[in-house]
Amino acid sequence: MDGGVRLLGLGDLAACQRLAADREWGQEDRKWRFLFSVGDVYGVDDGDGELAGTVVSTLYGQDVAAISMVLVAKRFERRGLGGRLTRHAMDNAGTASFCLTATEYGRPLYERLGFKAVGQCTTYIGASDGPSRRGVSVPVEAADMPAVHALDTEVFGADRSRLVDGLPFFCETLRVVRDGGGIAGYGGAWRNDDRFVVGPLIARDAETALALVDEIVPEGPIRLDIDHRHPEIIAWAEEHGLRPAFTTTIMEWGAPIANDPARLFLPVAQALG
Ligand SMILES: CC(C)(COP(=O)(O)OP(=O)(O)OC[C@H]1O[C@@H](n2cnc3c(N)ncnc32)[C@H](O)[C@@H]1OP(=O)(O)O)[C@@H](O)C(=O)NCCC(=O)NCCS
Repeated sequence: MDGGVRLLGLGDLAACQRLAADREWGQEDRKWRFLFSVGDVYGVDDGDGELAGTVVSTLYGQDVAAISMVLVAKRFERRGLGGRLTRHAMDNAGTASFCLTATEYGRPLYERLGFKAVGQCTTYIGASDGPSRRGVSVPVEAADMPAVHALDTEVFGADRSRLVDGLPFFCETLRVVRDGGGIAGYGGAWRNDDRFVVGPLIARDAETALALVDEIVPEGPIRLDIDHRHPEIIAWAEEHGLRPAFTTTIMEWGAPIANDPARLFLPVAQALG
């Protein structure tokens, strides 16, 4: 391993993906590219042309940042590198609060850094027949974006402008439920390797959320990362024949984030909240 932590660029994408493969994570080309565009990707070189580790921080306004893609090559594990990378990303973001979704491997490391568990998330996977209804939502238009921003900020508890601006390009489907001058909810789905991730999904109530999910779900292999605080989405997944694949822990650090989990039905991605 040589040198310190450096800010990576798109030229490092292939090395990030080789590191991910070392940990049996997928290529996730679309997700990595989105993270490079909305976040700061950091890495440590292994001195042999590859990366020893990575971490991503995505700033949401001045106060909150999401931490993700904490990856350390097997040959460098248990030397403190994961902790060092995470601390570096936190110091550089300099926000009062952080959020992340931890795997069972990452959780002890984050607890040592002072992160606290606030919830559990189970990833459901399976195959979908595509939308089962139409008529509640419409495809997002530029004129809807101010309302999407406003609802997202209110529910997430931080200003995710850059990410929200990118959603119409990142998502294969992005629909809103209009309500007077504003919106009652928005939802999307995006392609990650060989399956669609259903999310983000933010809505004022479960009825709107379930209508949206029925209208945004693409045909084919799908994945939903479901917060256990949303049994109605778990019931939807089970009714549609999806099965639980693995469970992760939703964690926060620092000043409480003024979010509203009751209206945050599905994250954009575990990496982004
Ligand atoms: C999770 C992950 C990033 C941890 O990376 P790491 O560099 O091994 O992490 P650290 O070394 O900082 O800490 C891990 C362990 O090493 C121990 N450790 C740290 N420095 C050490 C040292 N000098 N000597 C011996 N052990 C040490 C820590 O106490 C910790 O031990 P524990 O897990 O038994 O409590 C790595 O295992 C990984 O990439 N896993 C797969 C991907 C993943 O799940 N990432 C997390 C996403 S949320």
